[in-house]
Amino acid sequence: MTYAKSYAAWQADPETFWMDAAGAIDWDRAPSKALFEDNAPLYEWFSDGMVNTCWNAVDRHVKSGRGTQAAIIYDSPVTDTKATITYADLQTRVARLAGALAQRGVTKGDRVVIYMPMVPEALVAMLACARLGAVHSVVFGGFAAHELAVRIDDATPKAIIAGSCGIEPSRVVKYKPLLDDAIEQATHKPEFCVILQREQCLADLVDGRDFEWDAFQADAPLADCVPVEGNHPAYILYTSGTTGQPKGVVRPTGGHLVALNWTMRNVYAVEPGEVFWAASDVGWVVGHSYICYAPLIHGNTTIVFEGKPVGTPDPGTFWRVMSEHKVASFFTAPTALRAVKREDPAGDYIGKYDLSALRNVYLAGERADPDTITWAQDKLGVPIIDHWWQTELGYPAVCNPVGIELLPVKPGSPAVPMPGYAMKIVNDEGDEMPAGELGAIVTPLPLPPGTLQTLWNAEDRYLKSYLTNFPGHYETGDAGYIDEDGYLFIMARTDDVINVAGHRLSTGAMEEVLAAHPDVAECAVIGVSDALKGQAPVGFVCLSAGVDRDHGDIATECVKLIRDQIGPVAAFKQACVVSRLPKTRSGKILRATMVKIADGADYKMPATIEDPTVLDEIGAALKTLGYPG
Ligand code: COA
Ligand code: AMP
Repeated sequence: MTYAKSYAAWQADPETFWMDAAGAIDWDRAPSKALFEDNAPLYEWFSDGMVNTCWNAVDRHVKSGRGTQAAIIYDSPVTDTKATITYADLQTRVARLAGALAQRGVTKGDRVVIYMPMVPEALVAMLACARLGAVHSVVFGGFAAHELAVRIDDATPKAIIAGSCGIEPSRVVKYKPLLDDAIEQATHKPEFCVILQREQCLADLVDGRDFEWDAFQADAPLADCVPVEGNHPAYILYTSGTTGQPKGVVRPTGGHLVALNWTMRNVYAVEPGEVFWAASDVGWVVGHSYICYAPLIHGNTTIVFEGKPVGTPDPGTFWRVMSEHKVASFFTAPTALRAVKREDPAGDYIGKYDLSALRNVYLAGERADPDTITWAQDKLGVPIIDHWWQTELGYPAVCNPVGIELLPVKPGSPAVPMPGYAMKIVNDEGDEMPAGELGAIVTPLPLPPGTLQTLWNAEDRYLKSYLTNFPGHYETGDAGYIDEDGYLFIMARTDDVINVAGHRLSTGAMEEVLAAHPDVAECAVIGVSDALKGQAPVGFVCLSAGVDRDHGDIATECVKLIRDQIGPVAAFKQACVVSRLPKTRSGKILRATMVKIADGADYKMPATIEDPTVLDEIGAALKTLGYPG
């Protein structure tokens, strides 16, 4: 099979293409067809099939003889722990937790928030929800109480499952006080919480509301898998949009199973039984799709890694894990490789390990700079595959489909659209741009199986954010161009989203937090280029009339405010006070021009600028912060 043939097969007959892919999934009732168009443009896939995600990710592998194979390898340099959980072990653990949740009243459709560090129990909790048809919503541990509270209010969970703490190299992050604070802040209250007590920090439990993980399930019966409709939500995952209210991406069950399973062989080029490792976090979509679900659905061994690319204990950690556990395919964010390269530019640590099992390395989450790709390729001697996707889509949309055919790699491009997608570059009017010209990236509807079905509690926002500007198409929010060979190049976002260390963050959300500072009249947050993290947020605030306080103090308070409200993951370390912000005559803040000044890039004076002299003050303020670097 070649990429061209596979893509042409999808183009010629998408229905047959996806029904064939659905044949690799165990259905309790097979779907009569793939695409359901009754509610277009709210398309659905496999809606009349009945299926259970946990059965497909766990039980069927035990049944087919993989019971003794490792399902999860836990490798935690920060706690000096390693453990292996076989598929048979995993089945018992998941069924037991599901049984305990069911005894406490959790049933199909109930939401369960999961706030856990990178421990196998996080996957057990996700799968236990899937077993019951309950809808989990995992919240990344680097978010502060306020962000957790916003998600609790939106998802209205019956239960919350949390860890007592996460371990960062520099500190133990106590999750339980953050959870208590979030529940206090939220209007909605969960009926109960299950807390995994970790020896690094034992949390205080609230009587009658909180249950310790082991005690909670000690006497529970093993629960069976509950079949759900193909369009039943598997999970809600919140992601950054333009405002402080995150978007709750709803992932449908049937398409999720079919599409993820398809990618394991065709994109990631692994066979069942091999070891697959995505070094991300279960709080992100990469963690959902490629730490938890896809490898397990496909019968692979997945690695739960609790550590960082550097400092836990050295820049050889990735290579140690790969050699020790015989990783065949590895996935990380470019930032992680940049961090390793910075500490070990000659790749000396790589030479210390046997990486003979490794066949391919995949990068996503942010732009992969050609320097990093070339460095990794030279040092590792395997293809370094940049691929592009988003929380909304759930799995690679544009990539080099190594499992089908390794196409020529063009550093700087994630390559070509996968079956299901037909990326186009359009101008503001929706006209298609010629090859090489920049514009918004869109793809025709329907999106393929496993992509977002809607936004939780926000169907109008779903329609407005993605389907309205370019009718008949999904708007990705990214801008870029397609070259003569059909390769896509991603250049920028078209909205207020920035990408910090592969983490998607909203400058709009940060501005909402800064605007709440009592001395701040108006503000702007921009993403400036950062050699390690890709982008870094920088805040500018203008003070209310009559405020006569030390500007340094106010900047420090702004930094603290964002850390307290959004969390350390925002990596918001720099703010400054300016007298005015650069604006157009209609009042729009010229953030893109500010970014160009910070990056030392050429820029054209915007024709509509109200007062060009404001840019001098912005330039001077940026200089004091060290920009351009
Ligand atoms: N719980 C609590 N705090 C967390 C956290 C978690 N799960 N994850 C990160 N944080 C904190 C960090 O401790 C840090 O806090 P600090 O400001 O006190 O130092 C802050 O959030 C920023 O974290 P991070 O962006 O990870 O920066 P870092 O300097 O700690 O590490 C890298 C830099 C490059 C090593 C790291 O960002 C990395 O591994 N990136 C890869 C990202 C990735 O895999 N993304 C997933 C998408 S594929
Ligand atoms: P997330 O939803 O967190 O996965 O972030 C998705 C966004 O990250 C995309 O819309 C892009 O802006 C960016 N992104 C992801 N992968 C890539 C890539 N390979 N190259 C460039 N940008 C990427």
